[in-house]
Amino acid sequence: MAEMKIVLYPDAPLQDEAEPITEFDSSLRELAQDMFETMYAEDGVGLAGPQVGVSKQILVAHDPDLDPICLVNPSIFESEGEETSEEGCLSIPQIYAPVSRATRIRVHALNLDGRPYDFEATGLLARIIQHEVDHLHGVVFLDRTDVFSREDRLREWDAVRGRLVSATSRS
Ligand code: NI
Repeated sequence: MAEMKIVLYPDAPLQDEAEPITEFDSSLRELAQDMFETMYAEDGVGLAGPQVGVSKQILVAHDPDLDPICLVNPSIFESEGEETSEEGCLSIPQIYAPVSRATRIRVHALNLDGRPYDFEATGLLARIIQHEVDHLHGVVFLDRTDVFSREDRLREWDAVRGRLVSATSRS
């Protein structure tokens, strides 16, 4: 297993539409394992393919109260309720903003063998999945906030990113 490098916003392929996965082989399993390792190393609760430079429809998620999950080609086909809560993103570290999400969703996905299944998610897991599925469609959480907070947070992010990038180039 290997930790992968996180792509920082707005670098490619974060704003692209990710490709559906069609091959269910050992390299897909390896990718999923590396994504879990990367998510845990970065203290995240979710990670989508585009965030590690892989423009494919795969995500990993771990609500600490539940088992970790890996979803391939996921789609949300039912959602209800609405709740606003603070979100962050490993591709936009140190920036947080309140985002409104559905509180209960039904999800269709494939497992790592390519077998389809449906399930229901609520609470934190529902929020994580909505955030990560957005990544598969080129959308980040700041795109879900109002235009004024989005601009403010993006300005903050510019400053943070500048510091992060210069810290990396010094080390
Ligand atoms: Ni994110």
